[in-house]
Amino acid sequence: MTFDTIDADRPLKGVVVGAGFIGGQWAPELLAHPGTRLVGWVDVEPGRARAAAAKLGLERLPAGTSLTAVLDGEEPDFIVNCTVPEAHHDVTVTALERGVSVLSEKPMSVTLGEARDMVAAADRSRRLFTVNQNRRYMPDLVAFRRTVAELGPLGMLASEFFMPYKGAEFLGVLEHPLLQDMAIHLFDAARAVSGTDPVAVYCESFRPPWTWYPGACSAMAIFEMTGGVRYSFTGSWSAPGAPTSWTGGWRASGARGTALWDGGSPPTVSAAAGESLKAHRSEPDPYPERPGRFTGLAEGLAEFVDGLRTGSVPQGECHDNIRSLAMVTACLESVRTGTRVVI
Ligand SMILES: NC(=O)c1ccc[n+]([C@@H]2O[C@H](COP(=O)([O-])OP(=O)(O)OC[C@H]3O[C@@H](n4cnc5c(N)ncnc54)[C@H](O)[C@@H]3O)[C@@H](O)[C@H]2O)c1
Repeated sequence: MTFDTIDADRPLKGVVVGAGFIGGQWAPELLAHPGTRLVGWVDVEPGRARAAAAKLGLERLPAGTSLTAVLDGEEPDFIVNCTVPEAHHDVTVTALERGVSVLSEKPMSVTLGEARDMVAAADRSRRLFTVNQNRRYMPDLVAFRRTVAELGPLGMLASEFFMPYKGAEFLGVLEHPLLQDMAIHLFDAARAVSGTDPVAVYCESFRPPWTWYPGACSAMAIFEMTGGVRYSFTGSWSAPGAPTSWTGGWRASGARGTALWDGGSPPTVSAAAGESLKAHRSEPDPYPERPGRFTGLAEGLAEFVDGLRTGSVPQGECHDNIRSLAMVTACLESVRTGTRVVI
């Protein structure tokens, strides 16, 4: 991957695209970062970007429904793509083709074909295109990743996600709401924690009899990862009690012992006979002055800005992040075909 850096001696100009829930979390990040300036806000719904800006006291911020008009008018260095997944491809490619870098919400896109096209657009334009997987920055996940690295050769990684969730309306219209929406968080975390990439998967997605979802809200998947590691994912949006955390519950088994993480507190470790292991501690919140902020956005923006300024590669850079999306699309293909799918 090669992208051009920006050495202009001024804050980087950013436009937020999408003024729904997560757009409302990203805009304050651009205001808080000392090296960025929010110069515009776009949403296809008339009045929505203007109203979101007014809520932050930004009545004079350029806001509208046309992405190209705001890009041409404000000439930003980057956009933050906070639109719905179905719009990610068009919004991102439009920006990249105008020479504007992109920091995007997950998932990169809906299909792998779209994602490949987006990565090619980033290559052609020599612009940075990153997908922010905010959970990678959770201090407890970082401590779990460091603890797993102490286990010696890794054999198995298991995650469980069980949530009795009725919140988001759009989940009700998806054919596989767990795989198509939530699973990417856990799949990307599995890659981050194990340092491995997907090789193949067998997956089933189904409806338990008691579910309130019209779609297949529960799934089980077995991944072969690089180095022969096996990663298992089990989950449901219709958990009948005993919910896990929003980051799931985790177990990693290596030659020297086992690390456990409940997704909501620091990890623990249990050494194999004759071994001695200590769990890593979770680092303190790097932004204690901003309690209540949405986890992992400030950290992702800081990495992205560093990338644009120095050429360092952020964790969610598109050539890497596409592998997390591939885990989702391979699961869906396995469900469709009833076979093990090579990734
Ligand atoms: N990282 C996380 O934990 C997390 C949490 C919530 C949402 N998300 C992701 O953020 C994205 C947005 O989710 P949300 O909850 O904010 O959704 P939302 O429905 O609240 O907001 C999306 C907004 O995008 C706008 N939009 C749609 N197409 C557009 C286009 N072509 N151009 C401009 N605006 C357009 C819609 O009008 C809407 O206002 C999704 O990809 C979602 O998966 C991530």
